[in-house]
Amino acid sequence: MSKDKYLRLIQEQRNSSKKEKFNGNFLDYLELLEKDPNIAQHAHKRLYNAICDHGIVKMDDGDSRKRNIFNSENINLYQYFSKEFFGMENVIEKVMKYLKGGSLRGEESRQVLLLMGPVGAGKSALTEHIKKAIDGLPYYHIKDDPQRGEPLQLLPRALRDNFENMLGAKIDGDLSPIARHLLLDSYGGRYEDVEIVESTFSQRGRRGIASVPPMDANSQDVSVLIGSEDISKLDKYSEDDPRVLNLTGAFNVGNRGIVELIEVFKNEIEFLHTIITATQEKRVPAPGKHDMVFFDGVILAHCNESEWNRFKSEHTNEAILDRVVKINVPYILELSQEQKIYEKILDRSDFSAHIAPHTIKIASMFSVMSRLKPTGKCDLLTKMKIYNGEEVIEKGRVKKIDIKDLKEEHRDEGMKGISTRFIMKSIDHALCESENNCITPIGVMKSLTRMVKEQIIEEDFREKCLEIIQKTVREEYLRILETEIAKAFITAYEEQAQSLFDTYLDNAEAHTTNNKIRDRITGEERKADDNFMKSIEEVIGINGSAKEGFRKDVTAYMFAKMRRGVKVEWSSYEPLKEAIESYLINSVKDMARIVTKSKTRDDDQKQKYSDMVQTLIDDYGYNETSAEEILTYASNNLWRDS
Ligand SMILES: Nc1ncnc2c1ncn2[C@@H]1O[C@H](COP(=O)(O)OP(=O)(O)OP(=O)(O)O)[C@@H](O)[C@H]1O
Ligand SMILES: [Mg+2]
Repeated sequence: MSKDKYLRLIQEQRNSSKKEKFNGNFLDYLELLEKDPNIAQHAHKRLYNAICDHGIVKMDDGDSRKRNIFNSENINLYQYFSKEFFGMENVIEKVMKYLKGGSLRGEESRQVLLLMGPVGAGKSALTEHIKKAIDGLPYYHIKDDPQRGEPLQLLPRALRDNFENMLGAKIDGDLSPIARHLLLDSYGGRYEDVEIVESTFSQRGRRGIASVPPMDANSQDVSVLIGSEDISKLDKYSEDDPRVLNLTGAFNVGNRGIVELIEVFKNEIEFLHTIITATQEKRVPAPGKHDMVFFDGVILAHCNESEWNRFKSEHTNEAILDRVVKINVPYILELSQEQKIYEKILDRSDFSAHIAPHTIKIASMFSVMSRLKPTGKCDLLTKMKIYNGEEVIEKGRVKKIDIKDLKEEHRDEGMKGISTRFIMKSIDHALCESENNCITPIGVMKSLTRMVKEQIIEEDFREKCLEIIQKTVREEYLRILETEIAKAFITAYEEQAQSLFDTYLDNAEAHTTNNKIRDRITGEERKADDNFMKSIEEVIGINGSAKEGFRKDVTAYMFAKMRRGVKVEWSSYEPLKEAIESYLINSVKDMARIVTKSKTRDDDQKQKYSDMVQTLIDDYGYNETSAEEILTYASNNLWRDS
C-alpha cells in the first residue's frame, strides 16, 4: 500500500518538527530570559551571532591564495558563506564588519547596508543567504502584536534601569500602538499578565523578514513600507483608534529581523524617506493620524552602479546618503574562483551533460579577462594569471609583477564586464546546440562569440570581447590542447617527468658544487652531463651564460626544500617544470602531429592513436564524443605551419 508509506512519512515529519513552543505570560518570559539573556538580542546582534555561530576560521597559512592573492593578510573565513560564495572574502568581511559594529550598537546599527555592484555579481544571492541565516530561528513576542515586538517593551520607563541591571539585557523602544491598546484594553494595564508567544523568523510567513521589490511611480505606495488604515473599520472606530491600523508594511513585518530593499534606487525618492527615520531614530511613521512606531531591524539594500551614481548626484538625497554603508560587490577577477561559481550553478541544476575538460575554465577566462583593465606591465592573459595567483615564467624566471601593484593601478576594476548570467546562458546555448549531450570548450567558444555579436551593443566593448575569445582565449586553449594531446601520447608521463627532473637535479647539483655524480643504480661516478642539461634548458630559451644562474637557482631551491624534509616533486619548481614539460612534449610533437592529422594510419600509428584516445578518456576526463571533437579541432587548428 503506497498510500500508507506516504502518510507515515508525513506523520513522522510532523511529529519530529513539533517542538514544545513557549507559552506563558510576561513573568514566565522574564524567567526564561534570566536563564538565557540572548533571547532578547536586538536585530543586528541576532543576525551577527547567527552567522558567526556557523564558525569563523582564519585562512590557512598553507593556502596558496593567502600568500598569492591576499598578500599574507589574515583573512577571516565565515563558514556560513564558504560553500556558497567564491572569491568574495573581502566583500563578506566588510558585510561582517558592518554587522559587528551594529551588534555592538555602533553607528552601523543606525545605517542601511547597501550592496552596490554590476548585474550578476551576486548581490541578490548574498542578501538571500544573509536572510536565511535567521530564517527558522525562534524569537518571542507579545501575542497578537502585528509588529511582534520585544516583550521587554512592556516595562514602563521608570522600571527599565532596574530590570536592565537584573537581566543583563538592554531595553529599547516602545510598544506598537496595537500592543499598547491590547495591554490597556485586554489586560487592564497589568503587563505582567500579558501573553507572550514564541515564533520563528520566516521569510515566507512574513515574520521578521520582509522584502520590498522596486515599484514604478504609479503603483508606488508607502503602505508597502508602513502598513495602512483599514477603511472598513473607520465607521466602527475613531480615526485615532489603533484598531483601524493594518500594520503589515515591510517595516512592521521586518521588525526584529531584516528588511530587504530590492534594487532600492529604482524607487522614487519620496518612497524612501521612511528610511531616514527608520535608521536614525529607529522609528517609522504609522499610517493616518497615529504616532510613529518603533522599528529595530537590519536594513539591507542593493543596487547597480548607474542607479547609485544617479542617486548620489542629487544633492537633495544627502540625508539618505549619510545613512548608508555602501559595500562594492565587484565581479570576480580570480579565475579559479570564477570557475567555482559555474561549477556550483551547474551542480545544482538538472544539467546532466558531459562537460569536457577545460570547458568551464575557457568560459571563465573569457569573463575574467573581459573585466580586466589593460596595464602597461603585461598583457591581459598574464594579468589574469597573476590575479589567479599563478607564477608566470619568462626565460626560466618567475616574472616579477606584484599583484598589489596591478590592483592599485585600477581601484574600481571588476565593476564592468561580462556577467555570470551571460556565461551561464552561453553554456546553456552550447548544450542546446550539441547533438550528443556534451559540451566542449570549442562549443562554448562558438556560443560565446555568437552571443557577444548578438547582445553586446557597445562597439568598443564588443570588439574587446571578440578579440579576447577569438584570439587570447583561443590561443591559450590551443596551447593547453597541444600539451594535453602530446601528454596523452607519452606512456607513464608522470614517471618520465619525475625521472627527467631527478636526473636534471643530480646534474645541476654536481655542476654547481663541482662534484661528480654517483649513478643512482650502478654507483659509478661521472662528470655532470652538460649536453643533457642544455637540451632541457634550451626549450625554455635559456642559453649561454643564463644557464649558470638557472642551475644555481634550481640547486638552491632543491636544497631549501630538502632541508625542510619536503619530497621534491617534478612539478614543484615552476621554471623547471615548464622546461621538462616542454621537453617531453617536443619529443612527441612530430609523432602527435602525424598520427593525429593523417587520414590513413599504418598499424603502428593506429595503435598509437587509439592508445592516446583511451588515455584521454581514462586519465583526462573526456568521453568518446568530446575526445573525438577536440582531436578534430586540434588537427584543423594546431600544427598548421609544420
Ligand atoms: N562570487 C560568487 N560566488 C558564488 N556565486 C556567485 C558569485 N557571483 C555570482 N554568483 C551567482 O551568480 C548568479 C547571479 O547572481 P545574483 O542574481 O545574485 O546577481 P545580482 O548581483 O543580484 O544581479 P542583478 O543586479 O542583475 O540583480 C547567482 O546564481 C549567484 O549565486
Ligand atoms: Mg539581483
